[in-house]
Amino acid sequence: MHISHLHVFPQIHSPYYFYYSLILKIQTQETRKNPPVRLVRLALRHFRNYPALSLEPAPGFNYLFGPNGAGKTNLLEAIHFLTRLRSFRRASRRGMIEEGQLGMYLRGEFRREEGAAAGVTLEAAVQDHERKYRVNGKEEGDLLSYLDQVHTAVFFPESLQIVKEGPALRRAFFDRALAAENPAHLAAAREYNRLLAERNRLLKGGANSDILAVWDRRFLKSAARIVARRQRYLGSLRGHLALLECSLASALGRRIEVEYTAEGTGLSGETWEHLAGGEEDPEAAAEAVLAQSAARAAAEERRRGVTQWGPHLDDFRIRLGTRRARDAASQGEQRLLTLALVMAAAGSFRAARGEEPIILLDDLSSELDERCRGDVLGHLAATGAQVFITSTEAPGSRAGGAGAGRFHIEKGILSAR
Ligand SMILES: Nc1ncnc2c1ncn2[C@@H]1O[C@H](COP(=O)(O)OP(=O)(O)OP(=O)(O)O)[C@@H](O)[C@H]1O
Ligand SMILES: [Mg+2]
Repeated sequence: MHISHLHVFPQIHSPYYFYYSLILKIQTQETRKNPPVRLVRLALRHFRNYPALSLEPAPGFNYLFGPNGAGKTNLLEAIHFLTRLRSFRRASRRGMIEEGQLGMYLRGEFRREEGAAAGVTLEAAVQDHERKYRVNGKEEGDLLSYLDQVHTAVFFPESLQIVKEGPALRRAFFDRALAAENPAHLAAAREYNRLLAERNRLLKGGANSDILAVWDRRFLKSAARIVARRQRYLGSLRGHLALLECSLASALGRRIEVEYTAEGTGLSGETWEHLAGGEEDPEAAAEAVLAQSAARAAAEERRRGVTQWGPHLDDFRIRLGTRRARDAASQGEQRLLTLALVMAAAGSFRAARGEEPIILLDDLSSELDERCRGDVLGHLAATGAQVFITSTEAPGSRAGGAGAGRFHIEKGILSAR
């Protein structure tokens, strides 16, 4: 009884397949400089419930199936950790080490093309408080350089917190996606946080306004850079959301909108768009807006001794049609929205960097209804990305097309099927 899984064979079951492949072909021809990166070999030692594991995934779709607690999510987490150096479950490094063991080791061989020499090998070894990361056998001290080797995009059940929860998670999601495309954003965010901490220290200590004014010039510039980058990124994301609209959004029946809001200073999204839109230099425009916020907040800041405006307080408002998704979207709609955002971010990454991120989808079947699942997988098949999908049920015999990987997992033991 695998009929319910036949839809995951997109060529036949997604009416959008041809549409997608056409648009994506045009898009990727324009932008793709590199063939997609694929994981060709993964080895794990003492990672969660895997004492030892070796996996040779297929270049396209890979299905990981097995009962609850088998180790399916753990495997996605391993790929994510190896490439992003953090768990998407927000687990500590120590928590990922197999119980009773002192350390873990992960190794992945990635290739740009099947059989081609161009590729990269990543290794991560963690023991107690020590950790070593290697790129092509050489220890890499610069984490940013390590992180820029291979990119992954992940959707897992708790991802929908992006829509549902407070602004901190949304800022983290969008900032991370932005930094994947443009690593300079990370450095800019670090600088901003440093300046913010210093500004707060000055405010708290009651520093005189001359000192603060000198400081504020740098702070304002740094804040404006972040705001402008985020705005620009949203512009790119909107284009990719529109591409997805024919499937995911049609299931939702309404347009997905994301706008930047500066709630800390009472500036609505429209005000931002109005003030920042149409300007030639978005950074200068953001600076002008932020300077107004700063002037308005000055008295209160002195009273409270803490910064009252800036990108660390801003939010990304996600709307479905005219309603705010956080308040009005159903559980299922929130899932679709989140998935649309993850897919759009992957599309934006592809356009910016000219290559596909590896896609990790945890528990997609319990998260989405059949039609949406078919559409999502159809979309992914058209991008040519390598995809890992977990499910408690075995995929249908034609799922993912010829050459798809099918791996059964039980109690941390994996067998190809
Ligand atoms: N550090 C660890 N050492 C050993 N085993 C661990 C460790 N962390 C988690 N596990 C085990 O891994 C298993 C969970 O694996 P995982 O979350 O990958 O399951 P799953 O196959 O995704 O299940 P589900 O279908 O319920 O989502 C549990 O049995 C858990 O006890
Ligand atoms: Mg799981």
